[in-house]
Amino acid sequence: MVKVDFSSNVNPLGISTLALETIQKNAFSLSTIYPDTECKALRKSLSDYLKDEIDDEWICVGNGATELIHRFAQTFIRNKALIPFPTFCEYELASERTGANIVFIPLSDLALDPDTIIEKAKNSDAIFLCNPNNPTGLMCNTKLIEKIIESVDNSTKILVDESYIELSDYSPRMHTMTSRIKEFDNLIVLRSMTKSFGLAGLRIGYIICNPNLIKRLSSNQISWNVNGFAQAAGIASLQNLNHLEQSRVLIRKERSFMQEAIKKRTNTFIPHTSDVNYFLIYLENKRSTELRDLILARNGVLVRDCSTFMGMGVKYVRVAVKTHLENLCLIDALESVDN
Ligand SMILES: Cc1ncc(COP(=O)(O)O)c(C=O)c1O
Repeated sequence: MVKVDFSSNVNPLGISTLALETIQKNAFSLSTIYPDTECKALRKSLSDYLKDEIDDEWICVGNGATELIHRFAQTFIRNKALIPFPTFCEYELASERTGANIVFIPLSDLALDPDTIIEKAKNSDAIFLCNPNNPTGLMCNTKLIEKIIESVDNSTKILVDESYIELSDYSPRMHTMTSRIKEFDNLIVLRSMTKSFGLAGLRIGYIICNPNLIKRLSSNQISWNVNGFAQAAGIASLQNLNHLEQSRVLIRKERSFMQEAIKKRTNTFIPHTSDVNYFLIYLENKRSTELRDLILARNGVLVRDCSTFMGMGVKYVRVAVKTHLENLCLIDALESVDN
């Protein structure tokens, strides 16, 4: 039985009180009335949140970022897609469904390799770039992303997945690619409120891109794709940005606490550096599935086995940064099987 789940990387503080109270108070109408299929009020709130003069016609909302990854692939990918790896598996699943040829490009020392990406990008419909990346937890220098966008053909759509940027140590406003969105017609930025605002069960993701691309994406939208509870919680979450700020402070403090404690209290578990709300642990003496099964059975602690990420091998697990008491459960569990 899972007592503490470190395998899923959402905001450690969960949903904000304001968002929770809003859906509780309005549960009757949210349950019985059809939601706005265009998410107008939520798009307006997102436009205010994003500033940088991003109007609501530049925003499209989905049932989690995952729905939008699939919609992006369905809309734009016909023949060829490029995926640097290791990364989030949904890019591959979505591209596969289109029947396109997928070209995988290994990261170089866990960083994007823009020269190889540019070289292989010829005749590609799409390139997927995850920043910060999952599972590495590392933020990429935006100069590398800019180099790719500036070098590839304008017909190649570039999806920059910033699902974790608000939970990173970096200022989202200084490091987001939305600041260049007006310059590049082929740039598409993806965000996840599921992750940043702790709405994993409600599910909201959104895309920011040129309105012409939004129109094409909308033609593949299923009506009422985002339910009323999600829209109401999304709007309320954006009215309480303090909650996000508190989460960012907590993540920085707790990640550093966890990494130091693992180094001090264990010998065979090596935490990797990270810029976000999760990090990799290298296992000197165990395989990732063995550790996952062992501490789940003994301690009720679930970690993410990374062997299912292309290129990660069998010696890594990924853990989320949670609240202090929860994090202690992980450290105790690791210490108890450290041999
Ligand atoms: C990089 C990345 N993008 C998108 C998603 C999906 O987010 P959502 O839960 O909003 O569908 C995930 C979930 O793990 C992820 O790791």
